[in-house]
Parts: sequence; C-alpha cells; structure tokens
Amino acid sequence: MCGIVAFTGTSSTVPVLLNGLRRLEYRGYDSAGLALQTRDGSLEILKRAGKVAELEQALEEAEDARPAENSGAQPADQSTSQPARCGRHTQGVTRNTIAEATTGIGHTRWATHGVPSEDNAHPQLDCSGSIAVVHNGIIENYAALRAELLERGHRFISQTDTEVVAHLIEEEYAAAHGDLVLAVRTTVARLSGSFALAVCHADEPGMLVVTRCDSPLVVGRTKNGAIAASDTPALIEYTREVYYLDDRDLAVLRENGSLQFFDPAGSAIFPTPVTIEWTLEDAERGGYPDFMLKEIHEQPRVIRDTIAGRYNADTRRISFDDVALSPRELKQIERVIIVACGTSYHAGLIGRDLMETWARVPVETAVASEFRYRNPLVTPATLVIAISQSGETADTLEAVKLARLAGAHVLAITNVVGSRITMEANTVLYIKAHLEIAVAATKSFLAQVALLTLFALYLSQERGQLESNVVSEIYAAMEQLPRQIDGILEDTGSIISCASECGDAQTALFIGRGVGATICYEGALKLKEISYVHAEAFSAGEIKHGPIALIDPEGLTDPRAQTPVVAMVCKSVTYDKMLSNIEEVLARGAKVIAVATAGDTRIAELTPHVISIPEVPECLSPLVASVPLQLFARHIALLHGANVDQPRNLAKSVTVE
Ligand code: M6R
Repeated sequence: MCGIVAFTGTSSTVPVLLNGLRRLEYRGYDSAGLALQTRDGSLEILKRAGKVAELEQALEEAEDARPAENSGAQPADQSTSQPARCGRHTQGVTRNTIAEATTGIGHTRWATHGVPSEDNAHPQLDCSGSIAVVHNGIIENYAALRAELLERGHRFISQTDTEVVAHLIEEEYAAAHGDLVLAVRTTVARLSGSFALAVCHADEPGMLVVTRCDSPLVVGRTKNGAIAASDTPALIEYTREVYYLDDRDLAVLRENGSLQFFDPAGSAIFPTPVTIEWTLEDAERGGYPDFMLKEIHEQPRVIRDTIAGRYNADTRRISFDDVALSPRELKQIERVIIVACGTSYHAGLIGRDLMETWARVPVETAVASEFRYRNPLVTPATLVIAISQSGETADTLEAVKLARLAGAHVLAITNVVGSRITMEANTVLYIKAHLEIAVAATKSFLAQVALLTLFALYLSQERGQLESNVVSEIYAAMEQLPRQIDGILEDTGSIISCASECGDAQTALFIGRGVGATICYEGALKLKEISYVHAEAFSAGEIKHGPIALIDPEGLTDPRAQTPVVAMVCKSVTYDKMLSNIEEVLARGAKVIAVATAGDTRIAELTPHVISIPEVPECLSPLVASVPLQLFARHIALLHGANVDQPRNLAKSVTVE
C-alpha cells in the first residue's frame, strides 16, 4: 500500500527519497510524489500519477531544463497543478533544488479517497503551500474536519483525506506561534483512524516531524542525517539500527542527524533502537529475473532457519521457550482459533489439521476479515493464533484486538520485527523468511507452515498426546526438506512444460483431498493473483456436487478446449478416491496436471502431465507440493506477460480493512 520516505541531512535528499520509494514499490501504489525544501525558504513539489519511474523522468526533465527556465519562482514542471494554485511558498521542482535540497519527503500512494491523479497524489499542502504532508492510512473523521476547515475558509484541491491534515497543521502552527512539533501533536490529537505522517515546513529548514497510529513507521540515524520510512527496505541502505514509534508518538528529525522522540503528551521519551537482521542483499534481486523466483529459491534456507534450534536431540522434545504460556496453561487450552488472511489463512488451515490431529484440541481457522463481525466465541481458555507475514494486515489486527479484549492469549506468527502485530500479541513467534518483496507470498508461506508444524508437535507434546519417537521422526523428516526442495528447484522441466500446456487457458481448476485440498487453495491463489487466469480450488470430493459443470465437454474432441485441472495426488488414505476423481474429470474433457509422488506409476497411466515431488510424510506434503505450484503459476504469468512481482490491484501489506 502507500509508502513514505523522509530524509534530512547534509547530502542531497533526492537520491535518498527516490531510492527509498523504489524499494517500497513492491508494496503496491498508483502515484508518487516529493516535496523538497529549498534554500530560500519554500517547498518544491513534484507529483505524478503512475510509477516512480515517471517521477524520475520528470526530475530528469527538470534537471535538463535550461537554468534560465528554472530560475526564480518559475516552475520547471508546468503540469504540476497544485503549486500553481497554492501560495507564495510553493513551486515546481527546479534543477537547483534537485542538486541542493537536503531535506524532503516522498510518497507512493495507493488510492483510497479519490482517483490516482496528480492532485490526489501526496505530498498534500496547506493553503499557503508552506506545509507538506505525506500520509499512509485513512483519516476516518476527515469529512467532518474538512467541513469545519471549509467553513473557516480553507481551500481544498484534492479529494483526499490527507489534505485535511495539512490544513489542520496550518491552523495549529499559527496557534502555536510557529512551533511545528506542537502543531503536529495537537493536530494528531484530533485525528481518528490510522496514519503514518511525515511533515515538513518551508520555514523550518532541515527539520522533519513524523508520527504514526496503527500504521507502520520506522526512524533511524544515517551517517549524514536522519531518515524515516514506512518500511525498512527504504532505509536499510543507510542504517540497520531503527526506532519504532508507539501510537501517536512523534519523532523530530534534524539535518545534523539528531533524533528526538515525544509521547502524545509532549514529554520526551527515549526508545531503544532495534537492529534489523536482514541485509541489503535481501532487498536486491541478486541475479534473478524477479523477486518471486529469488524468494522461491530461498525456501530451502528459510525452512532450515525456521526449524533450527527448535528440537533438542537429547530430550527428543520440541522447544518453544518464546511461548509465554506455562505447561499448565498449554494443557488448559480448550480451543484454538487461527485468524489470518490470504496465503497466511491457507497456512492456518494446514496448522488446524495438524493441531487437531496431534494435540487433540478443537481448532478453527477463521478468515480474519469476517471474524469480528460474527460475534465469535472467544474465552480466556481460547488460544488465538494470528498469522501475518507483514504483521500489518488490518483485518488480522482487528481480530487480534477482539481476542485480547475477550481475554484470550494471542500468539502471533509473523516475519516482521517491530510490526504492529508484535505490539498487540502476548506471544510472538518469528518465521525466518527475511524480507519478502514479491507481492505473492511464497517463502513466507513455507516458513509459516514449517513453524505451525513444529508448534503443533509442541502443543501435543506438552498436552501428552504424542510419543517422543513420533516427534523425533517428524522432526528428522523436516530436516530433509531443504535438500528435497533443492531437488525440485534443480529440475523444473516438467513444471515448465505443464505450465506451457496451460498457457492459453482462461480458467483452471485445482482439486485435492485433505491437506491436498489446502495446497490447491494456495496454488489457485498464486495462479490468479499473478497471472490473472481465473483459478478455483475445490475439495476433490465436492466437484461432482457442482464444480464439475465447469469442465468444457468440447475438450473431449478438441484438446485445445480442455479445461486444465491441477490434481494433488499425494500418498494418503484418500489416494484411491483421488484417482477416481481424476477419472471423473478426464471423462468430461479435462486436461489433468497431476502433482504426485515420484515413482507413482498409477497416475502416469492416467495423464501424461505429471509433476513429481519427493516422498515425504503426508503431514509435510504442503512443504514440498506447494513449491511446483508456485513455479507453475509464475511460468503461466510470464507467458501472459504479467509483472509477477507487482500484480495489478494488489498490495504487499493490506493496512486498510
Ligand atoms: O501479511 P499477511 O500475511 O497478513 O498478508 C495476508 C494476505 O494479504 C497475503 O497473504 C496475500 O494473500 C498474498 N498476496 C498472497 O500471495
């Protein structure tokens, strides 16, 4: 979703802002903009609907423009409408400022209020054009605030909720006799909703004020200044020591690198810095054509890191010292509810089956966006497991808040240190996926499933439900997974040829049974989100109750009309039934792509399109079978010419409900 970068220092701010905005592109956005402080006490603004590349192009044009055109108050970029309508302080970006400005704020906007356009892009300005604001989140009371401000004579240019913030700061700044920190603090007290804000004022050179509430923001010192961003990739190049702000706290950044922090009452506070564990390499493609492929290839390492240190070979026990529940409390859990969205929800479905099977406790996996609206039954004896790669998904966070209010222990499984879910939960377990940039979740899914598998073993061990030899056998099998996944990644020929077989399909069905059905849900989600091919997954036993009607009978006589059906045929108690389901769809003209255990001769008799996976215990099958489906989806998306890292309409973390 939206991205914020703010920098003030002794070097040029433009490269830092652009670099940061590029690193936030993966989050999804539809317009971008900058505000730069000039030496003569004004702000220069440049905004573009579209990609950061278009903003860069506009900056290049401004740099190439002849100095005479760029001098004084004449905007180099005449199409930047807002400056022209605003007051004396603001103008289009000039060549001099690009080179000289050392303080500025940048933004990528994912439209919520108002279409993607230059007027609606951020920064948003006050009436005089002296105050520039970039904002992530939604100001829920913006309509009432806007009405008040209009009555008092403020002029609005955009349809955004953000613009009210700039005008409120304008009033508060006057009331505070030019104290920008106080003005931002009093403004924030009037806002409801979620926000991360970065503010600069033409009359406050070398100073930025940032704040947040229910929306992420990190702050750090660099070698030659101070930086703030809505997500760590934007600042990892400049610092690995970051500060997280609590809701409505403020940070003041100055060009000499000094950082001051204040609580909502205005008292100075001194947060402890946190070191970011991952490196710049994680934010680079590292020779891969796209982040998705890089992240798929990182999965063996991710599994290794996620399971490392969780098993004690001497005691033959799984250990979760980071779970803040005593053995007694673990035994007293009466019910587990897993809440999550999208891919994390699919990981939760797998976790449910494992926990119920091994720990013999009732488990439900709920779609987080529905959870709080259905009056769910949550008690202090309920363990609520919230799964979120980003730790910022608004729907999941709302479910967590409800669970906390009901007195449940909330255990969060996330990838992002310092994310909001880590602040809301009682227990936090980190997957070790490192930064995931591609919008389509791949390595984080495998890491979530691996961690849930271990946690299910732990819960059953602590509740006395599983013998230690079973625990050690499963853990030993998990240790083999990285090598087995490497094997899949080294030999992708059959995956690519099966994907090519489906290259022209408009629709694809996925069928499986038991955990195979869940693997299919995730496989279908991958395919639809990155290739835009309509894909649906069904429990194979259900297809004859309706979905089989989707198979085009033309396929019986014309192979080009065959509906692709991806079938998950892992060895399990339902194996024979699954083969019967495959026969049923073949008899109606489907083209079956089977994902089956290596050496399965019966499936080879039914279809020539087989993707082999290594033999693993059924409970671990998602950890191998999901990998070919990720590659299958990616290849089809590439055949369609789609951008696999940044699919249309999607954002990496969905911070609005
Ligand atoms: O960050 P989260 O795990 O909470 O995100 C949840 C979903 O938005 C996410 O898994 C989404 O479905 C992915 N794009 C799937 O690839």
